Amino acid sequence: MSAISGTKLEHGGLFFSGVGINMNIIMQLLLARVTFRFSCQVRYFHIQQKKLAVELTRIRYPNLKRGPYANICDADISNFGKLLPGKGRVITDVTELEGYNTDWLKTCRGSSQVVLRPKTTEEVSALLCYCNDRRLAVVPQGGNTGLVGGSVPVFDEVIISTELMNNIISLDEVSGILVCQAGCILANLDSYLKDHNFTMPLDLGAKGSCHIGGNLATNAGGVRLLRYGSLHGSILGLEVVQANGEVIDCLSTLRKDNTGYDLKQLFIGSEGTLGIITKAAILCPQKPNAVYVAFLGCDSFNRVLDVFQKSKHMLGEILSAFEFMDSASMDVIRNNLKMPNPIADFPFYILIETSGSQGGHDEEKLNTFLETMLSSQLVKDGTVATDMSKIEALWSVRERMAEGLMHDGYCYKYDVSLPLMKFYNLVEDMRHHLGNRVTRVVGYGHVGDGNLHLNITTPAYSHEIMDLIEPYVYDWVAHHHGSISAEHGLGFKKKQFIYHSKTKSAVRLMQAIKKVMDPNGILNPYKTIPDAS
Ligand code: FAD
Ligand code: MLT
Ligand code: ZN
Repeated sequence: MSAISGTKLEHGGLFFSGVGINMNIIMQLLLARVTFRFSCQVRYFHIQQKKLAVELTRIRYPNLKRGPYANICDADISNFGKLLPGKGRVITDVTELEGYNTDWLKTCRGSSQVVLRPKTTEEVSALLCYCNDRRLAVVPQGGNTGLVGGSVPVFDEVIISTELMNNIISLDEVSGILVCQAGCILANLDSYLKDHNFTMPLDLGAKGSCHIGGNLATNAGGVRLLRYGSLHGSILGLEVVQANGEVIDCLSTLRKDNTGYDLKQLFIGSEGTLGIITKAAILCPQKPNAVYVAFLGCDSFNRVLDVFQKSKHMLGEILSAFEFMDSASMDVIRNNLKMPNPIADFPFYILIETSGSQGGHDEEKLNTFLETMLSSQLVKDGTVATDMSKIEALWSVRERMAEGLMHDGYCYKYDVSLPLMKFYNLVEDMRHHLGNRVTRVVGYGHVGDGNLHLNITTPAYSHEIMDLIEPYVYDWVAHHHGSISAEHGLGFKKKQFIYHSKTKSAVRLMQAIKKVMDPNGILNPYKTIPDAS
């Protein structure tokens, strides 16, 4: 990346020059404070978390009934071994199974007895054909970073992991169209693309572990959606294996193709309930030549919205992310992760990223914008990073929030879309509603996408607290015309609340589609949409 050199910024005071407010502080912060190391590796987060036994989902939710599926037997394991020859392709070891049975948030735990690790589409097809004939229920699993309990079994479903499906198939260096297998890790794809002057159209804190197949199955949003739009726009083609093993080849690499229904869209966001995604063709944007990040402090959430409005106006096409955190979020970073606040304490913080093709042009725009924000008092203090290690350090303050919250014990995680004018009221309302029964109520998220992450923590899971939060939070969101899931999906934990965001007739159509595509209901049962019955 050819960002403005740190030296120039340090000596010249490139940003905030001529403003006379906080400039020295900002420069010092830039030099001194933003030195902590960054890690986007979610596997690393796993190691950091306390090892607590997670209650089995079927125990925590005693009213759940196992579906009419076959029980796995020794003959099945032996047949799986024939379909997946070689070492480490069929996992039955109890200790090894634990990680695949438990979700990242440590809120759901299944009791699958087997993990299958295919390498090719043909192998996925053979496995699904077998499971469908035998009526064995299946959970597709990517990086297992999902936050709604969708990626792990509820009972004893067979886990089909895409871990070994990690080949990059092609990159068209003229168009930027990448074709790869579903098990490629997002960060690996991004670093491969960077070497070829492209970048992935999505980025999220779990990039070190999540798979592109999982991203597609959840229609992941993340921090670049503001700039590159949703995956529904960036995906040109998909290859998917249906429940009966039939391969649907819609792996088009064309920008435009209006022949019949656009079937690939159906699988984006289907959370493993309609088919297993095996390959994807992705339209990748050019790698930006210049990236800058500003971390700013504000007095109120209304100020955050003012800055957002101004940033769209003044930064225009170079604005690539607009994230916010409240002071309770900063407490998590400071107290639970022992990371310093990069600036002074404020009620709200904003992280703005710009990405563009011409450093000089972007620098001038950002400089003017920041001067205006400071002189109008919309922003009270801030720091700017221009070299990669400092940029990553600032991003880690925002991206490690999910990890930091886990240190409190249990995290009730909500991921809602709301009109911006109502956005932060939900956090305040929940604080008032829950009082001192909980450890903390924090708000952060993707302001640029109208996506609030409301998180509530307690030392351990409590049915009583859960009953205070749900359906209260969903009623609140529906009342304010929001969506109960902006990006994480419904999975296991939110499926029964779908009617808060979708009409009965829309859900009926979803159920009909599911019935046609998976008549035996073997694919990710108990997830995403309620049963037709
Ligand atoms: P998994 O968790 O393994 O699976 C998720 C769902 O997809 C499951 O229902 C599973 O059955 C299904 N699935 C997986 N692979 C396939 C496949 N090949 N075919 C069909 N179905 C499949 N999400 C966001 O949207 N934005 C964020 O900013 C964001 N940040 C995060 C930060 C952290 C620290 C963490 C832990 C999670 C974050 N997430 C975020 C949530 C999560 O990373 C995303 O949902 C991600 O897309 C899941 O990918 P995965 O490979 O881990 O999928
Ligand atoms: C994020 O934006 O940090 C993720 O969606 C994870 C979370 O909600 O905690
Ligand atoms: Zn998010």
